[in-house]
Amino acid sequence: MPPLTLDPDTWDYLARRLGKTHLRRRLGIEVAHEADRLGQGRNVLHIENWKLFRQAVSGLLALTGLAARGRRNVLDIRVVENKVVLPHLPAEFDGFTILQIADPHLDVLPGFAHHLAELVRGLEYDIAVFTGDYRFQTHGSQSSAMDALAVVRGQLGEAVYAILGNHDSLRMIRPIEEMGIRLLMNESVVLERGDARIHLAGVDDPHYFATDNLEAASGAIPDEAVSILLAHSPELYRHAAFAGFDLMLCGHTHGGQICLPGGVAITYNMAAPRSVGRGVWSCDGMQGYTSAGTGSSVVVARFNCPPEVTLHHLRQG
Ligand SMILES: [Fe+2]
Repeated sequence: MPPLTLDPDTWDYLARRLGKTHLRRRLGIEVAHEADRLGQGRNVLHIENWKLFRQAVSGLLALTGLAARGRRNVLDIRVVENKVVLPHLPAEFDGFTILQIADPHLDVLPGFAHHLAELVRGLEYDIAVFTGDYRFQTHGSQSSAMDALAVVRGQLGEAVYAILGNHDSLRMIRPIEEMGIRLLMNESVVLERGDARIHLAGVDDPHYFATDNLEAASGAIPDEAVSILLAHSPELYRHAAFAGFDLMLCGHTHGGQICLPGGVAITYNMAAPRSVGRGVWSCDGMQGYTSAGTGSSVVVARFNCPPEVTLHHLRQG
């Protein structure tokens, strides 16, 4: 019997896409706990769900006269280039470029999506990937975030992949896929160039919903193949490395978003070492990159931590 929170048609669609167990687990957490601050997922405290925290930080910024500057910084999106050397990369993929848009929180400000769409329109890349968090809030309607995502999608190339983050509802799956974005819900796809192939996998949110499944995501990938994992947060980095992935692209931390001078994050809001909180890192032969985030959440402000879109250039040497 489908739960009352999903209409039967959506239930059938999602059950086909995810399987009933994954669907029931995620839906149960979403319905019962989506606005909880404590006790879900990989870390204990969820500031993104905590209204009082948001009000306190916003009030402090207003009092100190920093609110307007923080808001301007949200729109100052940088294009960051990252070279990834993979010695066993097939020659056909040398120079292959992945555009990563992380944590866009597209309904953060009116006009933000058009601003981002304009920025990505002029970039050169082979595939684009979204690493989750399309909505500003962790609950409520997703329709403005989905309308905004369609605006950005319209300026991207043909091949676009995505995963869900801790701000994202199951109800986004169908609209995202109907935009021509391939969502990777604990699954993988093959990328081909000539006769060569590499593999792109993605897991469901590991941070709050904890519905990530590396085994399912990597099951179809041959041992010797180059494999890239999209995961919303870096928190499963050790498991991903031991599972044999070559590269992991993630976000969630926003690089701290509001940082001390020198870019020192006050918190990365995750259960993992600070060494994987922002930028390039590695673990047991797997390379990783944690984006500082394209959008902003909790409060509409950034300091000492510019937002970014990232161009990952894969190279053989
Ligand atoms: Fe997140």
